Amino acid sequence: MNFTPNSPEARDIAYHLHGQTNLKAHETTGPMIIGRGNGVRVYDESGNEFIEGMAGLWSVSLGFNEPRLVEAARRQMEILPYYHTFAHKTAMPTIDLAEKLIKIAPVPMSKVVFQNSGSEAVDTAMKMVWYYHNAIGKPDKKKIISRANAYHGTGIASASLTGLARMHEAFDLPITDRVLRTDCPHFYKFGEDGETEEEFASRCVANLEKLIDEEGPETIGAFIAEPVMGAGGVILPAATYFEKVQAVLKKHDILFIADEVICGFGRTGNMWGCDTFNLEPDMITCAKALSSSYLPISAVFINDKIYQGVKEKSDEVGVFGHGYTYSGHPVPAAVALETLKIYEERDTVGHVQRVAPTLQDGLRKFAGHPLVGEVRGVGLIGAVELMADREKAVPFQPGDKVGPTVQALAEKNGLIIRAMGDAVGFCPPLVITDDEIGELLERFAKTLDDAQEWANGQGLVA
Ligand SMILES: Cc1ncc(COP(=O)(O)O)c(C=O)c1O
Repeated sequence: MNFTPNSPEARDIAYHLHGQTNLKAHETTGPMIIGRGNGVRVYDESGNEFIEGMAGLWSVSLGFNEPRLVEAARRQMEILPYYHTFAHKTAMPTIDLAEKLIKIAPVPMSKVVFQNSGSEAVDTAMKMVWYYHNAIGKPDKKKIISRANAYHGTGIASASLTGLARMHEAFDLPITDRVLRTDCPHFYKFGEDGETEEEFASRCVANLEKLIDEEGPETIGAFIAEPVMGAGGVILPAATYFEKVQAVLKKHDILFIADEVICGFGRTGNMWGCDTFNLEPDMITCAKALSSSYLPISAVFINDKIYQGVKEKSDEVGVFGHGYTYSGHPVPAAVALETLKIYEERDTVGHVQRVAPTLQDGLRKFAGHPLVGEVRGVGLIGAVELMADREKAVPFQPGDKVGPTVQALAEKNGLIIRAMGDAVGFCPPLVITDDEIGELLERFAKTLDDAQEWANGQGLVA
């Protein structure tokens, strides 16, 4: 460690533990301290400017200085800075937000349950699956199926549903008695020679049904899926995949939870990922762009079938024994309401549809670059998969650290993107303009060329 004593960097390392970070490496690199933000840009403490190509954590939909959200929070702080949603109590913004969410849900929904993070929303959905099946006299129907490479959060339950080894190793996770794993529907990576995308989807779904049969459909409570897998590498479902999955779930009376924590509120070019991929879930989890991430808030939608079951059971038990101190907190609720109002007034979804081709076509132009294997995406989310040999689809070795190096080179070029293995993700604020996307693409083009030079120097490319 070589930082000036008492500098912000030294204090950060002394006192602040970072998530999703190699803590040992962090002691030499130190933090990037972001000082302020403006639109799609953020600035570090030394004044260096970056295009935030990931909208923070896939989440700051309205950019980094929306005054209306600041004002909504300030106003609510003055009126009522806190109230809870226990024991028949609530606050007005919480009611208004619930009503608004039910109105814009992609399929008929009955109630929303508020929490503070995506992980808590997933945890709540999982508990709902169990409570509901106890309520309807099917106490064995408790296992939840998630997919390899899924990301559903970092709580004990949500991390268990997450299908990424790095989130499990050394934490004694996943819990396995109620969590099952099925295939990741990434055709480019897992499709076999001679297999069409539709055939690959059928194979994934046949494996899903085989798992259900082996475990016994009477033991399977729910299947959870992100419409587009985010932190697992921005993976789009293979063509026909969800259509086939949903038929299997219906056949075996298995609940479907759509995890819209990233996709919700316009990211894929429609209000919901469910709209983009024709999903008809029983429950939906959402967070992030619900408040443009200005304050923490998440929600689980449940349909009426689940609500009726849960209601009856709570009468029998005497209470629905769930909720957090900050569930339905009026200040984040007021900010979320204002966020939804802005989406409507500015036709944010329409804007995403208008600018998405600039990002998607621009990214696809990199498909010819020697380091690039696959370019994928929809709406304002995308990824570029880096490969040692693009012709033969040979990946780099994890130890080569190609993804993280590209991420670091991008930062040198004023662009924040996110490496997930050797896929680099793009998920800019939804307010990004065509010109700003052009700048983002220019910075990435320079980054890829720098990466090529570095990879040549390391002898990593064929
Ligand atoms: C699809 C999905 N679900 C759940 C989560 C967890 O959300 P949080 O980090 O707010 O707990 C995330 C976070 O990125 C996510 O992408």
